[in-house]
This record gives sequence, structure tokens and C-alpha cells, in this order.
Amino acid sequence: MKDTVRIEVNTPSRSYVVALENGAIERLGGMLDELRLPERRFVVSSPLIWKLHGERLAPVLAGAEPILVSDGERYKQLQTVVRVYDALVRANADRASTLITFGGGVIGDMAGFAASTYLRGIPLVHVPTTLLAQVDSAIGGKVGVNHPLGKNLIGSFYQPHAVVIDPSVLATLPRREFRAGLYEVIKYGMTSSASLFDRVRRERDAIFAREPAVLTAIISESCRIKADVVSADERESGLRRILNFGHTAGHALEAVTRFRRYRHGEAVAYGMLVAAELSAARGALARQNQAALADLIASLGPLPPIADVAASELLDSMKHDKKVVAGHLHFVLPTAVGATAIVSDVTAEEMKAALKTTGFAN
Ligand SMILES: NC(=O)c1ccc[n+]([C@@H]2O[C@H](COP(=O)([O-])OP(=O)(O)OC[C@H]3O[C@@H](n4cnc5c(N)ncnc54)[C@H](O)[C@@H]3O)[C@@H](O)[C@H]2O)c1
Ligand SMILES: [Zn+2]
Repeated sequence: MKDTVRIEVNTPSRSYVVALENGAIERLGGMLDELRLPERRFVVSSPLIWKLHGERLAPVLAGAEPILVSDGERYKQLQTVVRVYDALVRANADRASTLITFGGGVIGDMAGFAASTYLRGIPLVHVPTTLLAQVDSAIGGKVGVNHPLGKNLIGSFYQPHAVVIDPSVLATLPRREFRAGLYEVIKYGMTSSASLFDRVRRERDAIFAREPAVLTAIISESCRIKADVVSADERESGLRRILNFGHTAGHALEAVTRFRRYRHGEAVAYGMLVAAELSAARGALARQNQAALADLIASLGPLPPIADVAASELLDSMKHDKKVVAGHLHFVLPTAVGATAIVSDVTAEEMKAALKTTGFAN
């Protein structure tokens, strides 16, 4: 396994490895054996993903059927988790069972939540199939579902026993989904790594051509950053907050457009632009660095329009954000390419001005 990139995540609740390699799916069975994970295996995936890539994963199931559930954001709800429980109960799954998630962030979050609650927790392995899930949602143990009144309101922290990433599955990912994941890669660059930021800029064409070596490089660097942050702060009481860069305005934008108009990553791209403008207006970020971020985001292609979304509505929505602690909004302020500060003194006026300068309506 000399070509496998291995990244360790060490949290108080569990230590595990993120294994990354082109063709890793074909080695999954061997990896599970090496980890001595229980041999009864259940795979949760979606009909589309199973149709596209199921044949490659099927050998680990030794003839058993996968559990297939719908994976749109709309289906990320308890009702779908119940379908997973039903299948596990019918098959008499016990604690000596391993649940493998095979899909994007929606499948990983839902099936991960099922694994965390079925029999009070059975071993979980994520095999993420979108760029967003590979660089972000599969690592860190946040699992859960939406409530009709809000996103990710029901869930838990449940670290997986392993994460196995195979960039070759990204070949079939629609371009828009691929770009959505890339904005999160830019987020890691802007918060934590100028070299990752530069790599996306330099190798954009090879990234879009989905060349395995380049994908492996940007995914592994992103995973390393996420793994380090999660290892230092599993429950998001401090450092992990930096990963929310761009997510304050981003979540608000998703919420006021009812999660329909933007992919999560697209909303985060706007959120990063808002945060950079706010920071630059305070004199905490050089205009030149703000422009570097804006140029890199623009170079990936156009984002869905925002001119009809009102800044005042976004402000209202931010007040309901989970990251508001004791009435103070913890805000991630970029201070350079690769550096941030967390502040809690952002005023509504400042935020509104930054939203308007970014292009939102009054
Ligand atoms: N747990 C966390 O820490 C965390 C972090 C970030 C985001 N999330 C969650 O992740 C979700 C978004 O995840 P996502 O962007 O992966 O969306 P997704 O899971 O909805 O997948 C996007 C689309 O791509 C399709 N797809 C997946 N893999 C494919 C492939 N290889 N080829 C072709 N099509 C494929 C899916 O069927 C789906 O239609 C959100 O619900 C968000 O809340 C969780
Ligand atoms: Zn995100």
C-alpha cells in the first residue's frame, strides 16, 4: 500500500485513519480486514451512485444487497434514516456489523447518524463520492439530518472507524457539484494554507480535467487540514470554528433561498466574499489579498445570481445561526491568504455594508 496517503485523526472519542488512493475502492475489503472491523457488512448508498459505481464496491458485500435510499437534500430527514433502521432490523444486524456509507455528504450524514444510533452505535466507515464529502463531511464525526424548520438540527458527533477516499469516483460527478466542492478547498487554503490556495490557482485546468495526481494532492492537503483541526478540537469549542469561514453569510443565503437555489459550496463562496469584504473594510485584510480570493473564486466560473436577495433578510437569518454563542456571533475574519482571526464584535451595520458591497440588495 505504498501509494496510499494515510492521514490520522486523533480525537478523544476515537482515533482513525483517512486512506486516500486512486483505486482505493478495489482495496476496501483488504483495508476493512486489516482494521479487524466486524465482518458482517452493510452498505448504504443511493440508486444513482450504486448504478454508477456499485459494481466496484459489491465484492465487500459478498452477495448481500446494498441499502439504497434517496439522497437529495430534501430526503435528508428522519424518515429516510428510519428506512435504514428498517433494513438493518430486517437483516438482524447486530453489534458485530459494520455500516459502510457510499455517497455524498447527504448519504454520509444520514447513514452515519443511523450507525451512531442503531444499537447505540455500530462501526462506521465512510467511502465518500463527492468532492465535498471527500474533503469535508466524511471527516470529523458530525452526522445528522434536517428538521423541517432548520438544517442539521438533529444529530450527533460520531467519529467513523475509517474513511476511504478514491478520487477516481469523481469522474462522474456533475461539474456543478465538483465546483461546489472546490470552494471548500479554497476555504481551507484561505484559512490555513497559502500553498493549497496557490495550487488551486496554478493547477486549475488540471483540476477541472480531474487528473488523478492533482486531485490526490488537493484532497489530501484539505483532509490533512480538517484532520488537524478536528484532532485539536473535536466538539467545535475553539479552533474548529475556523472551518466556518464563509459559512455565516453562506448558511443564511442557503436558508433564505430555502436550500434550493445554491449548492452549499456556492453559498459558501459568497460567504467568503462577504467575510473578506468585511475584513478589508476594517483594515484587517489587505485589499490585494481580498482581490486574490475574489479572482480565484471567479476563475472557477460564474455563481448563481444574488442581486434579488435582500441583505436585511440575510441579517435576520444570521441571528438564528447555531454559531451565535450567548448572543455573540463568532465570526471568522480572514487576515491574509492562509490566516484568520475569530472575532465576536461584528456589528449589524458592518455586516450589512459588506453584504451590499458584495452585491446583495438592500
Ligand atoms: N458532516 C459534516 O461535517 C458536513 C460538512 C459539510 C457538509 N455536510 C453536508 O453534506 C451535504 C452536501 O453533500 P454533497 O455536496 O456531497 O451533496 P449530496 O450528497 O447531495 O450529493 C450531490 C449530488 O451528487 C450525486 N453524486 C454523488 N456522488 C456522485 C458521483 N460520484 N457521481 C455522480 N453523482 C454523484 C448525488 O446523487 C447527489 O445528487 C449537506 O447536507 C451538508 O449539510 C456535512
Ligand atoms: Zn461547508
